[in-house]
Amino acid sequence: MGKVLVIANRKGGCGKSTTTANLGVGLARQGKKTLIIDADSQHSLSISLGVKEPDNLPISLATIMSDIINDYGIDPTSGIVHHSEGVDLLPTNNSLAGMEISLAPLIGRETVLKQYIDLVKPLYDYCLIDTAPTLDLLSVNALAAADSVIIPVTPKFLDAKGLELVLRSISQIRKAINPNLDICGILLTMVDCRTIFTRDIISLVESAYGNNIRIFGEHIPHSVRAAESTAQGISIYKHDPNGKVAAAYAALTEEVLSNAA
Ligand SMILES: Nc1ncnc2c1ncn2[C@@H]1O[C@H](COP(=O)(O)OP(=O)(O)OP(=O)(O)O)[C@@H](O)[C@H]1O
Ligand SMILES: [Mg+2]
Repeated sequence: MGKVLVIANRKGGCGKSTTTANLGVGLARQGKKTLIIDADSQHSLSISLGVKEPDNLPISLATIMSDIINDYGIDPTSGIVHHSEGVDLLPTNNSLAGMEISLAPLIGRETVLKQYIDLVKPLYDYCLIDTAPTLDLLSVNALAAADSVIIPVTPKFLDAKGLELVLRSISQIRKAINPNLDICGILLTMVDCRTIFTRDIISLVESAYGNNIRIFGEHIPHSVRAAESTAQGISIYKHDPNGKVAAAYAALTEEVLSNAA
């Protein structure tokens, strides 16, 4: 049965989608059958994994969730596209933005995505879900379906303070919906260690949370290479195989694999 990891933070632009893509491809490169699900209606992950015209997709996360809401039987493999680097993707598009409204009046509105995940996870070793930087119903659905959360954080003062918000949300989800939800770890992203200020913020995060929550030993360095790979629809391993970001995401992949053992 596959392990379901959600990549979440209530802060925007902290590297959630980039981490989902490169951890997903990293796991696939290690021989793990991996599915990435784009649960953010901005659909930047789908685009960064090379989906050219997401709005023309006949099947996407929105259509699958609608079928579940309408009690139509679903084929869990439908809509999944295969990326050339070995990872599978259930893409999304603009129509997911309307899902909030469809979910709102439902009984069981927090667990619609879980019904899909329960069908698909026996087919994979890992399912990774990328989320929006809000605690909207879709993100709640992702956390309700998850075994564990990875929280990317950039070492900036307000971003580090924002960690408290996401941890509070996780604790609420645990109490109300998913008591087994675990925190896989906090991942420092876009790190530029040349400044003392960055090192101070990292120390602050480590001293505030390190006793209770794993902080991944590997930090993802800041590099324009990461942003370039997003624009090209390929992973960092392909775009800059010998670079520091590829090495950092490969090491993160190892940490996640050893955590699961
Ligand atoms: N290590 C890095 N170094 C430099 N730029 C990066 C790095 N990782 C990601 N980026 C760039 O930073 C921007 C934000 O990254 P990303 O989209 O992964 O964040 P996000 O948390 O998913 O954002 P959102 O909250 O909008 O979904 C993107 O333009 C991305 O290409
Ligand atoms: Mg994103």
